[in-house]
Amino acid sequence: SRVLRPVATVAFQNGAKNFSTSPEMQFKVMVAGASGGIGQPLSLLLKMNPLVSNLALYDIAPVTPGVAADLSHMDFPAKVLGYKGPEELPNAIAGSHVVVIPAGVPRKPGMTRDDLFNVNASIVRDLAQCIAVHAPKAIICIITNPVNSMVPIASEVMKKNGVYDPNRILGVTTLDVVRSCTFIGAINGIDPRSVSIPVIGGHSGVTIIPLLSQCKPAVQLQEQGKIEALTKRIQEAGTEVVKAKAGGGSATLSMAWSGAKFTNSVLRGLKGDDNVVECAYMKSDLTEASYFANPVQFGKNGVAKNLGYGKLNAYEEKLLNAALPELKKNIAKGVEFVSK
Ligand code: NAD
Ligand code: LMR
Repeated sequence: SRVLRPVATVAFQNGAKNFSTSPEMQFKVMVAGASGGIGQPLSLLLKMNPLVSNLALYDIAPVTPGVAADLSHMDFPAKVLGYKGPEELPNAIAGSHVVVIPAGVPRKPGMTRDDLFNVNASIVRDLAQCIAVHAPKAIICIITNPVNSMVPIASEVMKKNGVYDPNRILGVTTLDVVRSCTFIGAINGIDPRSVSIPVIGGHSGVTIIPLLSQCKPAVQLQEQGKIEALTKRIQEAGTEVVKAKAGGGSATLSMAWSGAKFTNSVLRGLKGDDNVVECAYMKSDLTEASYFANPVQFGKNGVAKNLGYGKLNAYEEKLLNAALPELKKNIAKGVEFVSK
């Protein structure tokens, strides 16, 4: 099987000009769904990331070569190539260290994320099949909804192909953390970037559990009613955007930022940086749900350490108990889809 090797080493030996002159490791990142509402701004942010030497933009949309040409003119070193349609997918994937997947349909008002399952499940299954063959060691970061079911789907496909590594198949729940930091920053009257809070569980409604009791600095709310209202707002923030876009889709820009942040942490882990921590949804034995999101530490092979979720207060225990049945149902649906 393919060995994960930083791209830059080769580039320097060849004297390639198009790479950073620092001895930093650089990596190939592939974006599947690159022409979409999330895909385009996410690709823009990845083009600007100094750890990215090669950016492969894949989509079924005819505009994809144009999106790649457009981004390739930005004065950053990463080399950008576009790939359109399933026949070009193997070349897009080959050699990728990280594959980020925002491919699939978004919600309209009145829909749940689970309502997207029927369309998005086969998209993620087919992408995972191609990754299993052409880049079995790639770290897969899944943005496509419902995330709670998509990570089990990709995992089952990897198992079928004999290349399963739970530390390399991750659901991106970073937007829940980003939103929590933003809302708490406003409440406390501080820069949201100075807020740190774990958001655990999954990525839909009641499965999103912000651990406000563990927030640093402490959330400046005393009344339990206000804590509960803030929790609800974080759980329903995706729906807030879906409603405001009135049929035009769901969060794209804040998700692109969150996806770029998550990918950067994965890349820093691959590069060997210490103490790179993010919340991620992955295979887990912490609860009775077989996949679960909580803080994890990244390393050279994806997740190096699951950091757990610490001590919950009574309210958070209640939230966890409400989340588990839904999470288990979402997971079972994904597993069953692949076994059919
Ligand atoms: P979009 O419709 O704007 O873009 C989706 C893109 O996927 C399109 O360009 C489309 O051509 C492409 N696509 C469809 N089928 C494909 C396939 N088989 N292979 C490759 N590309 C394919 O949608 P969006 O707003 O970018 O949202 C994408 C997904 O991300 C949705 O499922 C949405 O629910 C989800 N999402 C997740 C989070 C999260 O926090 N994890 C946040 C926001 C959105
Ligand atoms: C979000 O949280 O914004 C995404 O999951 C998109 C959605 O459907 O809400």
